[in-house]
Amino acid sequence: MTHSSIMPTYYSQLPIAFARGRGVWLWDTENVKYLDSFSGIAVCNLGHSHPEVTKATIKQAKLLLHTSNNFRILNQEKLADKLTKVAGMEQAFFCNSGAEANEAALKLTRVYARKKGIQNPVVVTMKNSFHGRTFATLSASGIERLQTGFEPILSGFTYVTLNDIFELKKLAAENANIVAIMLEPIQGDGGLFAATKEYLNCIRQLCDQNDWLMILDEVQTGIGRTGKWFGYQNFDIIPDIITNSKALANGFPIGVCLVRGKACNLFAPGKHGTTFGGSPIICAIALSVLETIEKLNLLEHTQEIGRYLQDKLQQKLGSKIVAIRGCGLMLGVELPKNCLSILSIGLKHHILLNVVNNNTIRLLPALIINERQVDDLVKRLAKTIDDFLAG
Ligand SMILES: Cc1ncc(COP(=O)(O)O)c(C=O)c1O
Repeated sequence: MTHSSIMPTYYSQLPIAFARGRGVWLWDTENVKYLDSFSGIAVCNLGHSHPEVTKATIKQAKLLLHTSNNFRILNQEKLADKLTKVAGMEQAFFCNSGAEANEAALKLTRVYARKKGIQNPVVVTMKNSFHGRTFATLSASGIERLQTGFEPILSGFTYVTLNDIFELKKLAAENANIVAIMLEPIQGDGGLFAATKEYLNCIRQLCDQNDWLMILDEVQTGIGRTGKWFGYQNFDIIPDIITNSKALANGFPIGVCLVRGKACNLFAPGKHGTTFGGSPIICAIALSVLETIEKLNLLEHTQEIGRYLQDKLQQKLGSKIVAIRGCGLMLGVELPKNCLSILSIGLKHHILLNVVNNNTIRLLPALIINERQVDDLVKRLAKTIDDFLAG
């Protein structure tokens, strides 16, 4: 179904294109309305075409789109101040995507290793994790099928099972080249498996004891998705490095690597950079996103409406599904069998769905979703699942 002049890199491209959007709704080119249950994969957290984002975009576009990072960029400085404050971090590096934010974090681990006199550094990551498609982030990711065909992948990664404290402690005792542990607070593409409080505490402790860096990939979990600015804020720990992207500019490309403490000031001038990172326009848009989240009290709303959604899913789907996992408005509904074909069944019920791990529907609705829309979403989803299981 891919257009002939587009590389066919994506599965499940459906025969549908959208012309406009508003809030949780999208209209296709035939003017048919659909409920979007995954917000462009956790990107449009404020919903489609949010008026504040549109206003900020137009306002800044009339003034200045881009200057190079050879000059001060005042919007970038404002955004760095705001983000470091809400994230409990000290410094920011801006780039254009989640993979790039993780690349920055991984390059930092190499600089950190050199400082410690380690020549062959190892970063511990999780099996089933997803950190991006560039060579370093693909190598960091613990999903083998994504790496197949691109070997040799980068060396310097070792993979452990999420939440297995025994395995992690054993590895820590055996490997003197470890410099960092990197994980997602909730595995997104891996199927909505969350790190436990005990596991995160254990990682923090090991990183402190051994002078390693704790890196949280908050590309998907950040910017309010779990009901906090960042997923880690649901726990009592703080990482040394956070990466974020997706929802930060509600649909415009941006990424950020945030650092604190021993992760600060590791890159010397000239050691890292990107042309478009932190431009005046993108930072103005991201600032409007953060301000709007605050103005609409969306963190609290996400906690409440997330619980409401989870309860409704349990009530309506309980007996038909294997499990509901996740937190806030990042929920996975695991079905008893491979369910890729459910995407086109969803279209018949005018709901846009996303499937991860072949058997899990990933729900990432806009944080502005209200109770009535949640009821509507669950109703459409229940009908879709009924049709799928009957088929
Ligand atoms: C946790 C996580 N990290 C990294 C990435 C890669 O981000 P991008 O596609 O913007 O490069 C993603 C994308 O889905 C992600 O979910």
